[in-house]
Amino acid sequence: MKITAALCALSALLIPASAMAVTPADGDVFARSTARTYLSDPLPKATLDTLTAAAFSAPTAVNQRSLEFVWVTDKAVMKNLKAASPFASALSTAPAVLVICANLKDTRIEDLVQFDAGAAAEAVLAEAGHLGLHSVPMSLAPVKSRITASQKALGLPADVIPEIMVAVGKVPADAVSGASAFRHNPARIHSNTWKKKNRND
Ligand SMILES: Cc1cc2nc3c(=O)[nH]c(=O)nc-3n(C[C@H](O)[C@H](O)[C@H](O)COP(=O)(O)O)c2cc1C
Repeated sequence: MKITAALCALSALLIPASAMAVTPADGDVFARSTARTYLSDPLPKATLDTLTAAAFSAPTAVNQRSLEFVWVTDKAVMKNLKAASPFASALSTAPAVLVICANLKDTRIEDLVQFDAGAAAEAVLAEAGHLGLHSVPMSLAPVKSRITASQKALGLPADVIPEIMVAVGKVPADAVSGASAFRHNPARIHSNTWKKKNRND
């Protein structure tokens, strides 16, 4: 802990304020780490339960709470789900993926349900980082063909819409492709009112 604090203090001295140095010690959201290739180690049920609890903890518009969560760990189901999106390469190796769906029967404001699903996905991504796991979100909605194919893969009723899925697992040391911690961009920060910025600053 002391070493982490010392590294943070050192980076604050070395990195200009505009670069906004952050580390996982600043919060779970900065511990998120993207991977699309995973080790085959299955995740314990307790880990999946904790990640599901994180998804449930996310806010929803008008507190509509219409999301349904489907964990996929079965290889045959995973293969069919992977075929639903051309950008789901992570499902070739991921030991688990959480498919976040909107149950339209319980949804009061349909235009906002994708925001609900996105908030739940981010909570899972942050919790995965907190647990030392790696992850990647993969959208299904609003592309009709991906929704239909993933509904078929999961055996979902027509009014349960798969919105986004989050693959989670452990990774080989060299497989991490990115992390949220270093995306800070002062050129996209505005104070009170819009001011045109020179993007080459
Ligand atoms: C709404 C959304 C949809 C995404 N869909 C996919 C996807 O289908 N496949 C994929 O591999 N990554 C997907 N991603 C992950 C992004 O590609 C990734 O976040 C981006 O490349 C930046 O990397 P980083 O998250 O490590 O900073 C998605 C991310 C978001 C927020």
